[in-house]
Amino acid sequence: MKQRGIGPLAVSAIGLGCMNLSHAYGAPPAPEVAEALLLRALDRGVTLFDTAALYGFGANETLVGRVLGPHRSQIALASKGGMAGVQFEDGIKRVIDGRTETIRRNCEDSLRRLRTDVIDLYYLHRWDKKVPIEDSVGALSDLVRAGKVRAIGLSEVSATTLRKAHAVHPVAAVQSEYSLWTRNAEIAVLDTCREIGAAYVAFSPLARGFLSARLRDVSTFDAKDIRRGMPRFEPAMYAANLGLLDDYVAIARDVGCTPAQLALAWLLARGEHVIAIPGTTSAAHLDENIGAAAVALDAETMARLDARINRESVSGARYNAATQAEVDTEEFACRGLPTQVTSSARPEQGP
Ligand SMILES: NC(=O)c1ccc[n+]([C@@H]2O[C@H](COP(=O)([O-])OP(=O)(O)OC[C@H]3O[C@@H](n4cnc5c(N)ncnc54)[C@H](OP(=O)(O)O)[C@@H]3O)[C@@H](O)[C@H]2O)c1
Repeated sequence: MKQRGIGPLAVSAIGLGCMNLSHAYGAPPAPEVAEALLLRALDRGVTLFDTAALYGFGANETLVGRVLGPHRSQIALASKGGMAGVQFEDGIKRVIDGRTETIRRNCEDSLRRLRTDVIDLYYLHRWDKKVPIEDSVGALSDLVRAGKVRAIGLSEVSATTLRKAHAVHPVAAVQSEYSLWTRNAEIAVLDTCREIGAAYVAFSPLARGFLSARLRDVSTFDAKDIRRGMPRFEPAMYAANLGLLDDYVAIARDVGCTPAQLALAWLLARGEHVIAIPGTTSAAHLDENIGAAAVALDAETMARLDARINRESVSGARYNAATQAEVDTEEFACRGLPTQVTSSARPEQGP
């Protein structure tokens, strides 16, 4: 597998996003399926495993720690804090909290669940806008000094916030959404990462299934599927987006790869500092996604893809208004307005 760098770490260019093994897109797989998937990824040369305190409100880290703990020396473990489940009277809710004491506590909890002494890459999952970014990054920096974290990252931040953070402590990676249908990184963050020597870790690199060209019917999503709250997956918007796929599938055919592989190969071709972390619950999809690391795209193919699926051709915002308010990224305007939802502590675990 092709290798790429994140600060001091050399990792597989295609990592594994572990979120889906515990929440997000309907009922999670049975524990033995999740366990087999993690071990298969390891066996196939994946060395970057991405989890978070948020995923399954701790259950995902517990799973990753239990299964990959015995293989700890072979992998780079990435996790995130500053957005986690908090117990309220009416149940556990997702709360963004970037205060220094919370980050310290989140990290201790993650270390315990992951069964490790040190997390290779620890991200601030969301910038808590009530707390200066310098303070939250200061807490991450303290964790590096204490030997609990090797490198730090940020998720869903703007280039301005990234630069402020980097002035406090070197930022090894930004993890934000990036794919043919979500191009916000191209406004500034992708270049800023290159300039400061940070990796860009692309989450939802398959557009949450859209770019696999296999997801045709969004009316059957499980009640807990987080895509239900995303404007692009509303049936009318999605129907419009499906119209983009015929040409896209034809390009994949010309290249000699699958549509999912095309999406990942496109990302890896956007820069040597780009790493993709697709998520899957399926062994066959895992193998297919890993195969993308060997797919090379020429300039003409890149141009055909850029011309077909881009910020102007995609319908619908990626997030609804409440989720959008939680991120700090520069955003392109897109066709279709975000759905209005009010925000506070939120019962769903979110993206
Ligand atoms: N930092 C953040 O705020 C943030 C937010 C979201 C995600 N993430 C990270 O990014 C990772 C990946 O993102 P994601 O899961 O949202 O999106 P994704 O990787 O773009 O898409 C996952 C979806 O695509 C399907 N899929 C995967 N490979 C496929 C293939 N070869 N053919 C057909 N379908 C395929 C999966 O279903 P199957 O299970 O059927 O394969 C799943 O429904 C997460 O696991 C998480 O670690 C981070």
